[in-house]
Amino acid sequence: MKTKQFPFYALLLLININMFAQQKKPIYLDNNQPIEARVKDALSKMTLEEKVKMCTAQSKFSSHGVPRLGIPEIWMSDGPHGVRMEILWDSWGHANWTNDSCTAFPALTCLAASWNPEMSMLYGNAIGEEARYRRKEVLLGPGVNIYRTPMNGRNFEYLGEDPYLASKMVVPYIQGVQQNGVAACVKHYALNNQEKWRGHINVELSDRALYEIYLPAFKAAVVEGKVWSIMGSYNKIRGEFACHNNLTLNKILKGEWKFDGCVITDWGGAHDTKESALKGLDIEMGTWTNGFTSNKAFAYDDYFLANPYLKMLKSGELPISNVDDKASRILRLIFRTAMNQNRPYGSLATVEHHNVGRTVGEEGIVLLQNTTKLLPIDANKYKSIAVIGENAVRKLTEGGGSSELKVKKEVSPLQGLKEKFGAEKIKFSLGYASGAVSYDQVLKSKLNADSLRKAAVKIASESDIVIFVGGLNKNTQQDSEGDDRRAYALPFGQNELIAELQKVNKNIVLVMLSGNAYEMPWIKQATSLVQAWYIGSEAGHAIANVLAGDVNPSGKLPFTFPVKLTDNGAHSFGAIAYPGDSVNEVYKDDILVGYRWHDTKKIAPQFPFGYGLSYTTFTYGKATADKKSMTADGKITVSIPVKNSGVVKGKEVVQLYVNDQKSSELRPEKELKAFQKIELNAGEEKIVSFTIDKTALQFYSDVKKEWTAEAGKFTLLIGASSRDIKGKVEFELQ
Ligand code: GLC
Repeated sequence: MKTKQFPFYALLLLININMFAQQKKPIYLDNNQPIEARVKDALSKMTLEEKVKMCTAQSKFSSHGVPRLGIPEIWMSDGPHGVRMEILWDSWGHANWTNDSCTAFPALTCLAASWNPEMSMLYGNAIGEEARYRRKEVLLGPGVNIYRTPMNGRNFEYLGEDPYLASKMVVPYIQGVQQNGVAACVKHYALNNQEKWRGHINVELSDRALYEIYLPAFKAAVVEGKVWSIMGSYNKIRGEFACHNNLTLNKILKGEWKFDGCVITDWGGAHDTKESALKGLDIEMGTWTNGFTSNKAFAYDDYFLANPYLKMLKSGELPISNVDDKASRILRLIFRTAMNQNRPYGSLATVEHHNVGRTVGEEGIVLLQNTTKLLPIDANKYKSIAVIGENAVRKLTEGGGSSELKVKKEVSPLQGLKEKFGAEKIKFSLGYASGAVSYDQVLKSKLNADSLRKAAVKIASESDIVIFVGGLNKNTQQDSEGDDRRAYALPFGQNELIAELQKVNKNIVLVMLSGNAYEMPWIKQATSLVQAWYIGSEAGHAIANVLAGDVNPSGKLPFTFPVKLTDNGAHSFGAIAYPGDSVNEVYKDDILVGYRWHDTKKIAPQFPFGYGLSYTTFTYGKATADKKSMTADGKITVSIPVKNSGVVKGKEVVQLYVNDQKSSELRPEKELKAFQKIELNAGEEKIVSFTIDKTALQFYSDVKKEWTAEAGKFTLLIGASSRDIKGKVEFELQ
């Protein structure tokens, strides 16, 4: 070869190598190929055995990949409030790693109480970064089951009683998680609104209650949030287990909502091979466990969708297309996560993540009462501050079931208050004790209740001001998975203690940490009351910032606080309506859940849905609308001036409720259909406007079996809560 021809041949060689390389790399391994092409190519290369394998767990928290093709396993982790510590391969025990301490973000009731979808995006992205860093493909959260009864042990993990609020708050959380290349797994689909008999109770309810109350948040997660996976719940729905259910999985989720992701069981939620194959299940996890304690040493090959499924496919009893659909969905999940080479790398327990946790907490804390303006606390006014109550020091990130966390840090309310007001001013007394965290029994405290109470009362009598930190906790039969509460009252003798404290000191700030409502026998004598949820790692800082006025509280209740349990709709129709007769449960409260019940039945709550005070005051002007009547395909805009008439900057959640003055089927007195959280400087005024269309006027007709907006008169109510209506406009739908 003459030297001057060399470059030509070199170029030719390079082109050939490149072409060879290009040809050699199969489509499914090429990150630049569209996902659907990669799915199709991978599927075409897989054996029947490999397709079946993908549909089941290989360990407690992972499912099979395809080692031969270099398709990775799927690693999953709880939970909705933080990335759980590593669990052992095949038992519920902790693996005791030393590199998996995380940020505990606030419980989702606190996120919902912020009424600020921007908080959901911040939250989702931060927890998504932590799941990514921990190399998890699926984060087993968020939970969006509707708050139907204050007895449900897991309400703290969910977004409250209203489907519209839950829908608006869940979508940005999912988008935040998934932009890190981690799949969210919205749960528990569906009608898992209690923990008692959760593994088998069969829920019966009307189509209206199903479509208007219990499905919307899941639909928003799928249709708007584009969630990549969803978890079937343990219970039955109209006679079929939710993890293999023709109505909810095939017809609604994969049919009407066109869900293209994976249906994953709750752990142990699958009960039959053919049912799982034909009724919408894709990945079977945790079979023969109860989800977090019991375990059975047991070959994964015996899973319903393992060998028994392979046998039915080989015998022709089931068509190969059945497993092709499941495998395609699982491959799509893998190409969106583990085999998406453009994913960010995540981070764990960072300052930024703790700041997100604190900010969400500060935005979610609800000021419920402040009659003598004890709050905000000016520390210079007081020489001695008593902090009383076990929740001032209890680690509330532990326990509660699968949402338990091992945290890098957890600032307790006591620590936060000491840093804020000066430790030298503060005297602490336990006041009450609740016993250890346990999953399946109520462990009594060994401490003597009387001596604890006496000591606390003494401290209170000698102090200028008292900060009581109580509420519920993550013990069994409190705010915990696996069982429900047994009483609506605060536990561990707190009511008696509070009554004693109120006798010796009139300056008491009650700070309650819980994920559920509770009875308030002491409310008339109470001066200041703050609902502060479970805020996680930054709890003490968030609470102290609000109590000291460094943050002006702007949270609003995401669920109603009934005066007594029987004021709640689920507790108004006997045991069959809650908790059921141990086999069936009938949602006789139907569409009237939460404020829908209280307002329609005229039962005044202790504190209403959407309620929350501020350190400033907001005054509303006159509500006006841009038209008197609206066509079916039209829109209407309602506006109202809102002014900060106080002396400090603050945020207000302006809420829009719809009332259908006359309808052919029962409708609630009002329903939330829009809200806006606005920030106003002292003296500042803004015009808040809402534009709605007929979707805000519709109900799901039991007669027509479709969403319907009936012509006639409607009232739009603008409120600072569901019961504090500031302005109304009437209009006619043609
Ligand atoms: C539990 C819970 C579910 C959790 C799963 C894995 O039983 O119901 O929320 O994600 O099992 O721990």
